[in-house]
Amino acid sequence: MYHFNFGGAESVVHIQENIPSLDDVLSNFAPSPPLPALFVCDSRTERIARRVAPDGAGFCVLEAGESAKSWRSVEKTLRSAREAGLGRDGLFVAVGGGVVTDSAGFAASVYMRGARLAFVSTTLLGMADAAVGGKTAVDLFDLKNFAGSFYPAQAVYMPTSVLQSLPAPERRSGLAEIIKTAILDGDGDDAFEGFRALEGFIRSDDAPAPPSLCELISQAVRVKGRIVEADPKETGEERALLNLGHTFAHALESSAGLGKLSHGEAVAWGLARSCELGEALGRTPAPRGARIRRLLEDLSYELAAPHPAMGSLDLFMRSLGGDKKKKAGALRFVVPAERGAEIIQLTMENIDLVKHIAAGACA
Ligand SMILES: NC(=O)c1ccc[n+]([C@@H]2O[C@H](COP(=O)([O-])OP(=O)(O)OC[C@H]3O[C@@H](n4cnc5c(N)ncnc54)[C@H](O)[C@@H]3O)[C@@H](O)[C@H]2O)c1
Repeated sequence: MYHFNFGGAESVVHIQENIPSLDDVLSNFAPSPPLPALFVCDSRTERIARRVAPDGAGFCVLEAGESAKSWRSVEKTLRSAREAGLGRDGLFVAVGGGVVTDSAGFAASVYMRGARLAFVSTTLLGMADAAVGGKTAVDLFDLKNFAGSFYPAQAVYMPTSVLQSLPAPERRSGLAEIIKTAILDGDGDDAFEGFRALEGFIRSDDAPAPPSLCELISQAVRVKGRIVEADPKETGEERALLNLGHTFAHALESSAGLGKLSHGEAVAWGLARSCELGEALGRTPAPRGARIRRLLEDLSYELAAPHPAMGSLDLFMRSLGGDKKKKAGALRFVVPAERGAEIIQLTMENIDLVKHIAAGACA
């Protein structure tokens, strides 16, 4: 169990094998929220939510996938909470991956100016990343995460047994974010061997999770929690480190066409490119960069530059220019350092190096 304090908001994370009972969830709140609570899930996680929910609980079932991270879902969730009779001290329990927790978390943050909130995270990406740290959001005007809030769930459950039904591509996507977090952790390279043990698990829908998975999720939660505690609202530099590999990854996702590549596949490619950028600028020691790339290759992530799914190099560079992580006209990249990672700024004038790297000319 991990206790975090995100700028005054307490958040307790429970990593365990089994799906929690309602009593488990309620035990995190004092005084206990009045029932009924509202359970928010998607069509694929409803069966998990029904295992936690008491008879007669309010339910809001969203469609599965990124399209549910919408204003429409927020409205549907708020209406369901009202119909279920929740007051301001009512409890929202979001059961699902990052889409459900981001969208239901946002709805909870505005319901009567803030209801109580618990998550049961059901994807590897959710456990390693989305369920921790308090960022909520929905996509709006075709822009990802355009509307959102900082609103950490008071209680987060990560029942690892539910990962067994997660399809292999979703497992691969989540693992890339765990690897990113291990790189950020000063001592995280020691975890690399543990990742290789997950090769079977991310290749096949039926492969069982190796025992090391729980420890790797714990490490990701610890590292992310520590970073967010230091910079809960991303006003400093600390939280931006979580964007390691992401400037490249987001530009790849945009140039490939949103939804063509899983986020994690793009992150793995972005991590390899960040190593090359860091090496070219003398910030990433070559042996560390090589070690990271070897790990990603061993796990069969596509690392070729240019990426086969990249629309075109021009499109990629244009997407890069529009990245949210641009600050005062300079592009921010996070690259692996001697230990952990560091932020570097590149102006559009000296962006040719990035173009060469994305084109594979620096390999
Ligand atoms: N808030 C944050 O800090 C943060 C961080 C990273 C990502 N995110 C967001 O998270 C979202 C992606 O999350 P995700 O990858 O979990 O996607 P997701 O929530 O869409 O889940 C992926 C798919 O798996 C299904 N699924 C969920 N749990 C399952 C289970 N146990 N068994 C079988 N199927 C299951 C879902 O229905 C969905 O079809 C993105 O919108 C991203 O922006 C948020």
